[in-house]
Amino acid sequence: IKKDNEEIGHWTANYLIKRITEFQPNSKKPFVLGLPTGSSPITTYEELIRRGKLGDISFKNVITFNLDEYVGIPESHPQSYHTFMNENFFSQIDIPAENIHILNGNAEDLDKECIEYEDKILKYGGIEILLGGIGMDGHIAFNEPGSSLNSRTRIKSLCYDTIEANSRFFDDDVHNVPTKALTMGIGTIMDAREVVIFGSGYKKARAIKEMVGGAISHMWPASILQMHQECVLVCDEEATMEL
Ligand code: GLP
Repeated sequence: IKKDNEEIGHWTANYLIKRITEFQPNSKKPFVLGLPTGSSPITTYEELIRRGKLGDISFKNVITFNLDEYVGIPESHPQSYHTFMNENFFSQIDIPAENIHILNGNAEDLDKECIEYEDKILKYGGIEILLGGIGMDGHIAFNEPGSSLNSRTRIKSLCYDTIEANSRFFDDDVHNVPTKALTMGIGTIMDAREVVIFGSGYKKARAIKEMVGGAISHMWPASILQMHQECVLVCDEEATMEL
């Protein structure tokens, strides 16, 4: 439990730097990271960028897989997750472009896109650390309530609550928010060797309560993380209000 988002970002960036630098001298394999969008990871990205500039961390041998992407808006759209990642992280670190993987929400064959994404993750030996936020309804990536706890990367319709929450990025108009997304499945997330979840603000308190101590249920998708061997929740006081 940290004081605020700044501290959450510092802790998480330090943790990642430690894990990545310890891993690399012993491994010829690249370090595979799962990455989220949203407001929660921003302070972590900022701190990683700062530390990258100081020479504390290099991403040359890091492979990234983003958790999700909207369907049907161009990659260049200001609110696409491609744009978000580029602006908030990738353009400011030394990661080679070919190391970056983000689902293509405009692929001609979306099912094929999802299957190939899973294959690529496997090809790199699976995800070492996956960072994720949590939705107010307990979603992780875009695995909305009702998602199969065994699901793999696939196309998903977004719940009205999520569309409403995300409308703040689309001129506050729910009609501008895409209604579908491609997302890693809950099974895909559970396969990561370590999962780090961010939770901040009172709006996340109910979801955090269900994630940490609720019954494991597909109606609160994050609750399945209770079954994960290595899951860390990094949050502020407000998000723990209902624990
Ligand atoms: C979106 C994303 C999720 C993210 C969630 C919470 O729905 N698809 O991956 O975790 O928002 O976002 P925030 O961190 O802005 O609260």
